[in-house]
Amino acid sequence: MALAEFLQQLDDLASAADQAFGSAGDSDSLEAARVEYLGAKQGRLKAVQKQMGRVDPGDRRSAGMRFNQVKQQIEAAFQAATERLADGGSTVQQGAHFDHSLPGTPLRVGRLHPITQTIEELKDIMGRLGFSAAEGPEIEDQWHNFEALNIPHEHPARDPLDNFYLSSAEKTTGDTPLLLRSQTSTVQIRVMENTPPPVRIISLGRVYRPDTADATHYPMFHQMEGLLIDRQVTMADLKSVLRLFAASYLGGDVHIRFRPSFFPFTEPSVEVDYHWNDQWIEFGGAGMVDPNVLQAVGYDPEEVIGFAFGLGVERLCMRRHRINDIREFYKNDVRFLHQF
Ligand code: DAH
Repeated sequence: MALAEFLQQLDDLASAADQAFGSAGDSDSLEAARVEYLGAKQGRLKAVQKQMGRVDPGDRRSAGMRFNQVKQQIEAAFQAATERLADGGSTVQQGAHFDHSLPGTPLRVGRLHPITQTIEELKDIMGRLGFSAAEGPEIEDQWHNFEALNIPHEHPARDPLDNFYLSSAEKTTGDTPLLLRSQTSTVQIRVMENTPPPVRIISLGRVYRPDTADATHYPMFHQMEGLLIDRQVTMADLKSVLRLFAASYLGGDVHIRFRPSFFPFTEPSVEVDYHWNDQWIEFGGAGMVDPNVLQAVGYDPEEVIGFAFGLGVERLCMRRHRINDIREFYKNDVRFLHQF
């Protein structure tokens, strides 16, 4: 058999099958069409396949390739018809039984993820306090994630068990592997390296730590980093900014408490707690930027001073909406997501 003849048969079959599946108005006629075209023994596709052995040997390769394409096309038409019928059996394609007076299938309107909504709101609140939003990369080098933040080589925070270091060769510069950033404090460094003081920024984004997921941990979460650098800044300014922020986000009746703590990049350092609904809840860390950090980015610690803070975005959102399991955010279950 000539190749052209075989291809013609395939084309005819493809359009006949398209027509049959496209016009199947119920599951019985769809099943009948399936048996007719895709039936394993007597189906028309099978019949054409049997012809392939009669195509001139030199042309069999082309014949086979075209056969596979048509087969996929017919299977896709069947699949589409199956989905169309499962979706309510509309017979729009055929037009014959279409009742124009029926109400349409309502479209499901999507919405922004609750974390995205939270991020937008936090930017808005901090924007009113004069902070502009800065961004940094999620794949970081050791300098921005640790070194410049005054976290020395032997510090436990750099432990491979506590970080996602990248092993691929092209992501590795010499003997200092890159990593998924473990904190948004990296953006403090990037901004200060590129901007002369004064600085007043926030940065909202993802951070990564190899934690096992449970109700309060997830290997990826979001932080809001804040940084303010100027000539005369005190911890009272830090406390005011965080209190105004909390009052805006959680409501006017929030109280704020500082507990002494330690972070390599701030001195002194504090944990920030908010009192809300009769409970003290820890939201993150803060402090006055360590002179070593200012020096690392080329600022003069005799000239400028500032504060920094880092808060957990999920935690804020969970408090506000009384969500008790962080994993809900990342299951992508619309029954959860559509509540926000
Ligand atoms: N980077 C810290 C963490 O991920 C949070 C933090 C603490 C950020 C104190 C700061 C800060 O800017 O001053 O645990």
